[in-house]
Amino acid sequence: MYLKIMSIVGARPNFVKMFPLIKTINKSKHEHILVHTGQHYDINMSDVFFKEMGVEPADYNLGVGSGLHGYQTGEMLKEIEQVIIKIEPDVVIVPGDTNSTISGALAAAKLHVKVAHLEAGLRSFNKAMPEEVNRILTDHCSDLLFCPTHIAVRNLKNEGITNNVYKTGDTMYEIAFMIEDKVNAMPQHENIPDEYILSTIHSAENTIDEKLPKIMDELGELDLPVVLPLHPRTRNKLKALNLLEKVKEDIIIIEPVGFFEFSKLLKDSKAVITDSGGIQKEAYWHKKPCVTVRDQTEWLETIEAGGNILANPGEIKEKLAIMLSKEISFNEELYGYKDTSSRIVKILETIEK
Ligand code: UD1
Repeated sequence: MYLKIMSIVGARPNFVKMFPLIKTINKSKHEHILVHTGQHYDINMSDVFFKEMGVEPADYNLGVGSGLHGYQTGEMLKEIEQVIIKIEPDVVIVPGDTNSTISGALAAAKLHVKVAHLEAGLRSFNKAMPEEVNRILTDHCSDLLFCPTHIAVRNLKNEGITNNVYKTGDTMYEIAFMIEDKVNAMPQHENIPDEYILSTIHSAENTIDEKLPKIMDELGELDLPVVLPLHPRTRNKLKALNLLEKVKEDIIIIEPVGFFEFSKLLKDSKAVITDSGGIQKEAYWHKKPCVTVRDQTEWLETIEAGGNILANPGEIKEKLAIMLSKEISFNEELYGYKDTSSRIVKILETIEK
């Protein structure tokens, strides 16, 4: 059976999750059409990822860009609908939990096109996070649900979703091994000390007046130097608070980096402090202790396995000390398979047209 498979991406984590699957589909007999919403548009937030992975630019770039959630999601929905009507795909794949994900899922579901959610079933149980709203709604309008872990399968079951739920493993785990040799061969980023903590802070909940200055103060006061690739949202907020220059004195600020460079920084670091979802897992499989600056996480198994710990602003130093002082035995099996995308393509081939 020949399938017309469309996938919708827009933001950094979407690209990383989709690339192994795009490569696998491109090697198959099926046709793949890639739609980029334009949610991320800076070269180092988007183009660099495609170049590194040798993935052709998207067939359609909708150029939606930044804005409030309603505006951004609404514009994407309107534009994706037009592309789906034109292409008539058999299935639309939406990865992750961004505004691009929910827009793609909604557009396809309303046109009665099958929706496949890559990274289904994750829950942080905090609806104040836009990502949580995006994932719940995407799961509930998906026809095929590809779960990275058994906890994700259980979360869906608790919400009554049991049909066409597959534990396929995690494409981010797959990609980490696909790029291993290239990452090892990379030179280290300039001006990076031998020992350092790698940090990323850009979630909506942490980039607010009440939290961001406190988090930056703490990062600047740790015993080890902190390297912080700065997301544009955080940069803009620090500028608005007149804090960027001060922060630069205490923390090694670098521009957002591509996936290879980030993986290199991660591999060579001593530990990770982040509020990102995906980086908690990447830290785990690179065997780096992780402090997650959030109230809860959708990657519970990293906490249960002892590789990750939650911290509120104000607790980062103390939690980092706990993580650095204990012996962690990282379990390689936690995220399963290195052939997730082949498993997914086989499942897609069972779709009834
Ligand atoms: C989005 C995802 C988040 C993910 C993150 C990775 C949602 C709800 N959130 O958040 O889950 O972890 O991507 O980066 O979809 N900006 C630029 N250039 C860009 C992109 C963004 O300057 O190329 C700035 C804009 O000022 C924009 C702000 O960053 O307003 C936020 O961007 P947006 O895409 O809305 O959300 P992210 O914070 O990146």
